[in-house]
Amino acid sequence: MEDELLMIPGPTNIAHRVAEVMSRPQIGHKDPTFVESFKEILDLTRYIFVNYTGVPFVISGSGTIGMEASIASLIEIGDKVLCADTGYFGKRFVDLATIHGAKVEALHFDLGKHADPKIIDEKLSEGGYKAVTVTHVETSTGLVNPIKDIVKIARKHGVYSIIDAVCSVGGCELDFDKLGADIVITCSQKVIAAPPGATLLAVSKRAMDAIENRKTPIHSYYMNLAKWKTFMENPKIYLATPSIQVLLALREALLMVKEEGLENRVRRHKIIADAIRAGLEALNIKFVIEEGYRADTVTGFYTPHDKAFDIHSIMRERYKIYLAHGLGDLKGKILRLGHFGNITPRNTIALLSALEISLKAVDTTTDATVGIGGAVDIAIPYLEKLI
Ligand SMILES: Cc1ncc(COP(=O)(O)O)c(C=O)c1O
Repeated sequence: MEDELLMIPGPTNIAHRVAEVMSRPQIGHKDPTFVESFKEILDLTRYIFVNYTGVPFVISGSGTIGMEASIASLIEIGDKVLCADTGYFGKRFVDLATIHGAKVEALHFDLGKHADPKIIDEKLSEGGYKAVTVTHVETSTGLVNPIKDIVKIARKHGVYSIIDAVCSVGGCELDFDKLGADIVITCSQKVIAAPPGATLLAVSKRAMDAIENRKTPIHSYYMNLAKWKTFMENPKIYLATPSIQVLLALREALLMVKEEGLENRVRRHKIIADAIRAGLEALNIKFVIEEGYRADTVTGFYTPHDKAFDIHSIMRERYKIYLAHGLGDLKGKILRLGHFGNITPRNTIALLSALEISLKAVDTTTDATVGIGGAVDIAIPYLEKLI
């Protein structure tokens, strides 16, 4: 049986060597080999974030645990938090900060638009904010926000910046030490191409000091970065049983990132994204996101005549390529592609070919300027840079 090609924005396809380590016999969480592996994972986590100035964290749980731990640990009841709402995952910070007792100002940006640093600057100029939250790559649409400018503005105002980089770390340019952000969060099942079940964070010294010197205790056991810091310093202690197999698989996937090299990996993601965008444009497909702010890891596109369900099922049933539907109101209108992790030119050609055929099958009057093979033809010069 042919494996399905996952082109959803996570979880993504994992390499055989990553899958293989999960089938080894169970070991205990205090086994010296696991303790050593965990230390190695922390070193590799420093590498993928380029975090040699702050504290690295790896905690069992999904990306949302990383987001919630950041809020629960840094934000105290009544703190003012500005949340840039650029979509589904931007809103998650609004919910989390509200649940944890913050006074939340949700700054909404229209669908397709990026978080405008000028507007954030104006808001923060009003004063009194403790933190600003931003999504680097908004997975619900394929938006990449200008985090460098936003972090710079946050620093100017003395406000902590919390960045959800779940869909970018390892595939988009992000250098924690140069960026100057306070907390950056990612997780295992996206660009790192490990199975779901681990969240990874980079936390600045400044944010760590604030967390460790709060006026009030952190109202959580598991979502408590001050507690987890003790484990990062000494992984022999027990706080909660780690997801051992997932973490060993994460180690293998992180080693693969290092073997490829972060710069090469970012370059590969950009080239493949350029190829996909050029192919989609040839098919006269409209992107959800304005030009200049389309992510190199995720693409959201409108389906002609709202035929998202038909295209989705043809792609999946006939060609075993699994795309994601839109979220919320966008379901049925858009489809989303996750093009990250182990994505190759071969996957890209398969994707574009199957899409050409599926579009033709559902809409013979499509305005595509090219026929079958045309999108691939346009993508090839990009892909050749990787071959
Ligand atoms: C940008 C972004 N943030 C946060 C999350 C939440 O991660 P998880 O589902 O692993 O909790 C996701 C998941 O898709 C995401 O894409």
